[in-house]
Amino acid sequence: MNSEIIQHRSYSLGKEQIPLVAVESLDDIERMNLKEKIKKKLKEREAVIVSHYYTDADLQLLADETGGCVSDSLEMARFGRDAKAKNLIVCGVKFMGETAKILNPEKQIFMPDLDANCSLDIGCPVDEFSDFCDAHPDRIVVVYANTSAAVKARADWMVTSGSAIDVIKYLDANNKKIIWAPDKYLGDYVQKQSGADMLIWQGSCIVHEEFKSKELESLCKNHPDAKILVHPESPSSVISQADMVGSTTAIIKAVSEMNAKKFIIATDKGIFHKIKEVAKNKILIEAPTAGKGATCISCAHCPWMAMNSLKKLLHILETGENEIFVKKDIINRAKGSIEKLLNFTNNNKDVGLANDA
Ligand code: 13P
Ligand code: SF4
Repeated sequence: MNSEIIQHRSYSLGKEQIPLVAVESLDDIERMNLKEKIKKKLKEREAVIVSHYYTDADLQLLADETGGCVSDSLEMARFGRDAKAKNLIVCGVKFMGETAKILNPEKQIFMPDLDANCSLDIGCPVDEFSDFCDAHPDRIVVVYANTSAAVKARADWMVTSGSAIDVIKYLDANNKKIIWAPDKYLGDYVQKQSGADMLIWQGSCIVHEEFKSKELESLCKNHPDAKILVHPESPSSVISQADMVGSTTAIIKAVSEMNAKKFIIATDKGIFHKIKEVAKNKILIEAPTAGKGATCISCAHCPWMAMNSLKKLLHILETGENEIFVKKDIINRAKGSIEKLLNFTNNNKDVGLANDA
């Protein structure tokens, strides 16, 4: 089918653009004290935590224990839209905080660290992207959730990893030609699954891009009984080895429901916390990231997700710092592309289910 690749420029990040994150080292008593203070402050501020599966286990536990939510980016958006709390604390990355603000402009949205970004968002600057869309006015613009509010405002639709195939199939069935941004690997996977006519932006996730296919093949030889679960932001040579390809939620569900004991998992290792909670007796193996002679950039953990911490969370609750603001005109335009997805998923209850590779 007519899938074209944008050749003019690569949107890979240089090493200097990737933060080195110092992990907070806390003993059990410090951790417990911080958590108690955070719980108190959440009540005072009438706030709830919306946390992604890739954040620190303590942040996930806190979100679950205090009436918040731990989920993938589709469910984070849904939860944010429906939440009754006055304030939302988004533990994740910038696009997640912005999406929450766009869907709840009347609420105050805070993040533990406003510099927590995403290589896909950075790799899709709005001006260049807008020019590109203007050059292809016959195409409908579909962007992944991992983009800035301004890019969503330029788009017709926003999708998540859990909804992309269903939305693109729907648009293809309605004879739409598509511009897809920013993830080239997810775009390629969705194109193969849907057969749609897609022009694909050349961005990538620095975490998933690092999974190595040859090393995965060798690992599988040592574990022939393991099922391979892969997030679709990974390269096609990794996806092609998968028993199941899906969003973070779909991966967690697959470990619980598949009739296997052992799993090799190609996504950020932050997800292992939730998997261990819901599927206690399974054996989990990290998919390999560093090839021979290669150095590991992310080591399967997103450096921006790792910027979220208990100390920073308490700090923003105490000070009211790190509020997310999005300009009104951007909110109004971006809301349209996000709400299209939320309405689509409301009307199509099966959206988000995993795909066998
Ligand atoms: P999910 O929507 O599958 O949670 O993915 C978000 C993300 O950033 C993955 O890298
Ligand atoms: Fe972005 Fe990749 Fe981090 Fe997800 S894991 S937030 S796609 S850099």
